[in-house]
Amino acid sequence: MNTIISKIDINDIDKNEIKKQSKLLAEGKTVIFPTETVYGLGANALDEDAVKKIYEAKGRPSDNPLIVHIYNKEEVYNLAKNINEKAEIIMDKFWPGPITVILNKKDIVPYRTSGGLETVAVRMPSHLIAREIIKEAGVPIAAPSANISGRPSPTKADHVYEEMKGRVSGIVLGGDCNFGLESTVLDVTTETPMILRPGSITKEELEDIIGTVLIDPSLEKKEDNKKAKAPGMKYTHYSPDADVYIVYGNREDTIKKINSLVVENNEKGLKTGVMCLEQNKDSYNGTVVSLGNTLEEVGSNLFDALRQMDKMNIDIVYSEEFSTSGVGQAIMNRLLKSAGYKIIKA
Ligand code: TXA
Ligand code: MG
Repeated sequence: MNTIISKIDINDIDKNEIKKQSKLLAEGKTVIFPTETVYGLGANALDEDAVKKIYEAKGRPSDNPLIVHIYNKEEVYNLAKNINEKAEIIMDKFWPGPITVILNKKDIVPYRTSGGLETVAVRMPSHLIAREIIKEAGVPIAAPSANISGRPSPTKADHVYEEMKGRVSGIVLGGDCNFGLESTVLDVTTETPMILRPGSITKEELEDIIGTVLIDPSLEKKEDNKKAKAPGMKYTHYSPDADVYIVYGNREDTIKKINSLVVENNEKGLKTGVMCLEQNKDSYNGTVVSLGNTLEEVGSNLFDALRQMDKMNIDIVYSEEFSTSGVGQAIMNRLLKSAGYKIIKA
């Protein structure tokens, strides 16, 4: 497939390039564009044939529903019904931004978009390029993360260019995504809202404005993953080619343990990578990729670090464990999935 590439500077948005890509979307074709979370692979959410192309480009199972991206809040009322008070509060407070709400769908949303469910996931992104693209396309845009199914989500222009060129009609190269982790998915169809996928808008932030929020209990353990309420959370995900392990324990023990594993692997001829906080990076042997100083930085760098490991042909990656407070919940959710829940005690 011929892919039309547009390079767009977020600080000086070229309206002609936006129009070129939005026209593809309006014609029922697929276009990749940046959002504030990760790059998305978009198509007209109301056109079944267009949506089918998304699943094909990603190699994604068709029972995994898509998030519908809108430009302004009014559009949510065309897509969803019986929207309750808490849902309204969340949308008013956090949109545009990195939170997706699960609502009862109207008939206009095809089952191919909702993965056969009676609900629909809706999000209004804040990224200026994403907003222009959706506005100009004139239709709601279904967009999963723009990776081949199972791979880490793309957070930089290079990631989508390398992985998806030739698989979609258009790609907008628009720099780095700021959060680097996908949006928080919140089911607001139930009396007490439930987080189906943790993201950069945290449980604490949500509880501050709507009271008790649950977290889908099946996210905790690998054995329970099949029961996950967001179909996408059931699948293997975020996996680089390297085998990933999380090492937990206090700082000193973790460093000792990882360094001894690096030596063991070297003896076996395996290339080993380490992912850690910036402050610890000089303590490790092996190929070290720093994830930054703060949890926000770790969230933003994690998927790129996993991709870097593959580029360096690393066989085994050891990652430090991170706190599960705030955005740490989302980080550990993604890290555990990329590790296939393999953890080692230091
Ligand atoms: O940040 C994001 O959300 C990115 C950007 C591109 O917007 N999109 C994204 O989409 O991560 P995707 O398709 O990779 O993940 C969507 C998640 C999946 O786990 C899916 O199962 C869940 O949301 N989901 C979508 N619709 C749902 C529904 N009706 N009920 C429950 N879960 C749903
Ligand atoms: Mg995804």
